[in-house]
Parts: sequence; structure tokens; C-alpha cells
Amino acid sequence: MSTRSGVLSMLELKRGEGVSGEAIAREMGLSRNAVWKAVEALRAEGHRIEALGKRGYRLSEQNDILSAEGIRCGLTEFEDAEICVFSSVSSTNAKAKEMAGMGAPHGSVAVADHQSAGRGRYGRTFVSPAGCGLYMSVVLKAECLPFDDPARITSVAAALTMDAIEALTGLAPRVKWVNDLFINGKKICGILTEAVTNVESGEISSLVLGIGVNVNTPVEAFPEELRENISSIFIESGQRYSRNRLAAEILRRLLTLKDPAPALLRYRERLLYVGEHVTVHGPKGSYEALVLGLDEKCRLLVKAKDGEERALSSGEISIRIQ
Ligand code: BTN
Repeated sequence: MSTRSGVLSMLELKRGEGVSGEAIAREMGLSRNAVWKAVEALRAEGHRIEALGKRGYRLSEQNDILSAEGIRCGLTEFEDAEICVFSSVSSTNAKAKEMAGMGAPHGSVAVADHQSAGRGRYGRTFVSPAGCGLYMSVVLKAECLPFDDPARITSVAAALTMDAIEALTGLAPRVKWVNDLFINGKKICGILTEAVTNVESGEISSLVLGIGVNVNTPVEAFPEELRENISSIFIESGQRYSRNRLAAEILRRLLTLKDPAPALLRYRERLLYVGEHVTVHGPKGSYEALVLGLDEKCRLLVKAKDGEERALSSGEISIRIQ
């Protein structure tokens, strides 16, 4: 581990509290001067590190620079996890697919501060401004998942992301089928799962789970025409949160999952629009329907106007509240 990386890890572990230069120097087998130089280098990168005189250095609670060290310190049981942090990529899903293609193990993660072509469902763009959102994609191997139906991963991930947001912020997001998280009626998170297929066998070799959370995004960072429908945790709560912490909260839940049942129960409890009328948009057109709930395969159960009950699979179908 480099000196810079080791010093950042120690500061992240004691974020908001502070740690003496002497303790860092002792732990890392460095001189105090080398620690000071590393702190200066981190400051030059933009990290907010306060000098506490004889008491050492403190990483400010307000510091919000994404880093593998910052994410890893909330993930102590996954010291070996491959976490790649990029300042800007087209899409972290594309990066994670590349990583999977190169043999990255289960749980490898691509995170970016900015995406120039963030991907949403139905070929839509996921607006991904720099410095404020969490854009993260995780490589998952089907054989390492604790259930045999990888199609449910999006619903499980939505539930675990809601839990993580609630643990960090105290806010309780709700889910719009199948994968959009809402706070106060506005979308703050989207999830896109993509398959990586083996070119020779045609079989699915891994899944890439992409999670985008508008964490500290100010309203001006969203295109005007979207502001009515999308928001961020910051806009809804007035508080800023560490993206590293949120990433760790999500990853810890995802990578330690043993039984998906409790997560799926919470997904059901937080499902929006049950008992309400929606418009269902599908490849064969649109129709109005009443939302009844979810079935055991996480399909949305609706009752169309003609009385027919249908179970919708996520594929090409979206719903809009009327
Ligand atoms: C949606 O809203 O339809 C899904 C949005 C998913 C966005 C995330 S951000 C991280 C990952 N990289 C992408 O390009 N997309 C996902």
C-alpha cells in the first residue's frame, strides 16, 4: 500500500475524529515528515483535512471525494475486494463489463465521480453530474448469489439500497416497480442490471449490477425539464452525505447477503402505487390498470380495465401513475 493510500485509509477510519501524526507514522513505519507530505498531497487532490495542532489531522465530515480507501474502510470484511474508482467514465456498467470480461472476481466494483453516458433502462440516459452522485457497478457471478433466479437481483438490490440509504440518512425511500427509488415522490436512484455473456457458449457468465444514487446533487445539476420528477438525497433532506459511506453500506449488504427473503419482503412493503391506477406501457401499446401487488417472481400484478389480471415482467414494461 502506498503512503498516500495508507494515510488516507487511517484518516477515513477516524473520519470526523482525527488521528495524530505520530500514530499514523508509527502504524505505517514512516517519519512524521513523510506523513505530513502525504497529507499535503491529499489536500492538493482536494481532500478536506484539518490540522489539529498536536492532536494531528482530521478528515472533515464534509469531505466527499470518492476513493477506494474510503469505501473499503466501511467494508472491513472485504479487504481484497477489487474497487476501481474513476474520475470520469462513459458508464460504470460498461467498465464493470470490461472488468468481468477480464476475469474480475465476484464483488468487483467500478465507481465513478462522473459518467458521460450513464445508461438507464429502455436506452435512456442516467444524468450523472460530477462530484455529487454515486455511480457504481458490481460484478456478480451467478454461482455466488444465494438464489437460483438471477432475475430477482434487481429487486433485492433495490431493497438493500433502500436499507443502506435509510441506515445512513434516516430517510425511508420507496420503490417504483421495478427499480426506481423515490423520496417524497421524486426519483433519487435507478438500478440497471445487465448480463455478460460468454461469447463461445452464449451463456450468462456474470451480471453487472449498476446503481446510480443522486446523493449530494444540487437542483441546478439536473436538466430543467427533469426537475419535476427527479431529485437527490441532498435536495430532499438538506443534508450532504459521504458517497464512500453510502457505497460501503450498499456493498456490505449486497456481498454478505445469505437469504434474499427478508429483502424481498421489504421491497413489497415499500412498493409504490399498490391499489392505485397506473398506465402500463409495453411493446404492444399502453393500457390503464389497477396495481394489485407483486407475485413470488417479483412480477407486478395488475388488473386491466377489462377485468383481466396480468403479471408483468420487467423487460420492456414501464408504469406511470395517472
Ligand atoms: C434507470 O434509471 O433506468 C437505471 C439507471 C441506472 C444508473 C446506474 S449509474 C451506475 C450504472 N452505470 C450506468 O451507466 N448505469 C448504472
